[in-house]
Amino acid sequence: MKFSCQGERPCARVLAKAMCGIIGYVGRHRAKDILMDGLKRLEYRGYDSAGIALLEGSELRIVRAVGQLEALIRKAAPLELAGTVGIGHTRWATHGGVVEENAHPHRSSDGKIALVHNGVIENFATIREFLLSRGYCFASETDSEVLANLIAYHYGRGGGSGEKNHFGESVRRALLHVQGTYGIAVLCEDRPGELVGARNSSPLILGIGDGEHFLASDAAGFAARTRDVVFLRDGELVWASGEEFLLTNLCQERVEAQRQELDWDLTAGERGGYPHFMVKEILEQPQALENAMRGRFSADGSTAHFGGLAMTPQELRQVERIVLCACGTAHCACLVGEYLIEGLARIPVEVEYASEFRYRNAPMDRHTLVLVVSQSGETLDTLEAMREARRKGFRVLAITNGVGSSIAREADGGIYQHAGPEIGVASTKAFTSQLCLLALFALYLGRLRDLSFDEGVSIVEVLRAVPGQVREILLQGEAIRRIAERHGRCRDMLFLGRQVLFPIALEGALKLKEVSYVHAEGYAAAEMKHGPIALVTPECPSFFLACDGATLPKTISNMHEIHARGGPIIAVLSQGSAVPREIVDDPIWIPRAHGVALPILAAIPIQLFAYHMGVLRGGDVDKPRNLAKSVTVE
Ligand code: G6P
Repeated sequence: MKFSCQGERPCARVLAKAMCGIIGYVGRHRAKDILMDGLKRLEYRGYDSAGIALLEGSELRIVRAVGQLEALIRKAAPLELAGTVGIGHTRWATHGGVVEENAHPHRSSDGKIALVHNGVIENFATIREFLLSRGYCFASETDSEVLANLIAYHYGRGGGSGEKNHFGESVRRALLHVQGTYGIAVLCEDRPGELVGARNSSPLILGIGDGEHFLASDAAGFAARTRDVVFLRDGELVWASGEEFLLTNLCQERVEAQRQELDWDLTAGERGGYPHFMVKEILEQPQALENAMRGRFSADGSTAHFGGLAMTPQELRQVERIVLCACGTAHCACLVGEYLIEGLARIPVEVEYASEFRYRNAPMDRHTLVLVVSQSGETLDTLEAMREARRKGFRVLAITNGVGSSIAREADGGIYQHAGPEIGVASTKAFTSQLCLLALFALYLGRLRDLSFDEGVSIVEVLRAVPGQVREILLQGEAIRRIAERHGRCRDMLFLGRQVLFPIALEGALKLKEVSYVHAEGYAAAEMKHGPIALVTPECPSFFLACDGATLPKTISNMHEIHARGGPIIAVLSQGSAVPREIVDDPIWIPRAHGVALPILAAIPIQLFAYHMGVLRGGDVDKPRNLAKSVTVE
């Protein structure tokens, strides 16, 4: 799919949202199995609690459990649930603690309506007051339960009239009073063959099957059953039975559904024989890098090209400044992008946390290009930063792995990563794929400016060699596991690198914190003298990214300084490195490489190290505590 430009819907309100996974089904098959399977694929979106609601004839049944999905599966296993209409939810808590009462689905106090919700209802307190005065009561602390009751209120006002879409109309009327964000799927006890969904700023996708329809916050939730989809846009509402669906906006106007065919390799989202998604995805990196580069080199092999940038070379030549914007690991990728774009294209670059950028009101010259980077394409801060830049009239491009995601749809143009689904919460293959695409983009911009044909050819050769070199590094998994074993008990670690490897040090510290809960800090190696060196003891190892390059002699001095203070040193070194062996306790060798490729190669050992530390320390590396894959809250 190409990136396309999409204006804001007249009825859309764009506010904050919460993250969770939602799924809905209406059709002929047992909804319980379909919902559980969908929730498994959506669990990366949150795993504090989970629940399902099913219509068993005209009886609405709800099962909920605190903890990961397994708990819900165990609880639902002995129950006879044969209904063919249902909704499900996997939660990342925002309003209210992690207790069963706050788990979704929520049911209105009159028992009629069940709802799953991904988002934040900002005016829930006002609506709650209103509903309390009308005799509704509440069993949870959530904003979502308020919405279930508001729908019930509107449904009740219609007196349960026989009009065909009375249920859908009640949902629409309720949403007119809602300020906030939502992706919802709703059931009504009186309407056993119907399902209603709506979206505002939280993703919702309709899947169209044979005599069945699905709703999900990520098409992965139902892609095993249909590839025929409609991405709802903000302010849209869908009513579906098994046989038909109707798409409208909140102004009650019918909307023409834009059906699309998903082009996915489903087995890519399975764990296969691997113990964790994280290691599977680390090992998939050669393929992900090949996918990122496929078809993106010019025929003469001297530059890159992209199908979806929607900017002419002339327009790109006018760019005088680039702002790179992202969160988390994608932000680390942008920091590498800064070195690469400035180095190859000589365009000044600034890297911003999306959450800061969107409120900062930074003065920006009209020749500024904004490039956002997001694996999921749904991170709220990144999406809002992008909207803010577009509101001000700036051109915004995106690099994302999220085909059809909000960011992909709203960007003026962009580059898809084609890394395949990344399920492990800690990003790995998406990160190196972003590094690769930023390198390609830097090369392309460079060739539009002063980078010569010969320089272009040699960079293309360097990049083409990367997947093979990554394969070579991956062979050292067992050696890296033994290193992790030696340092498995440490409480603190430093990650140190310079220049283009400084962001890899930041990413190394982030990865280790995420999956092993070891406190880690990433620093520019020379800065270590200005504070972090105080942490150095025999119990606090330093992980150096000390590959060949102009600053290597300086990095060696930093290594000596740590060695002299008894700090153990793990170091990623270039093959044949001049780094004295006696100061390195645990070397990890990677091929010598150009600065364009080096960050990708150096990222592999830090990922493997963090993975093994996480496993050794007994954490759930695929679903680390308190984290979620797609952060759609501010
Ligand atoms: C979460 C994930 C990180 C990810 C970040 C940005 O914090 O746990 O792995 O880097 O979000 O996500 P994005 O999808 O925008 O790249």
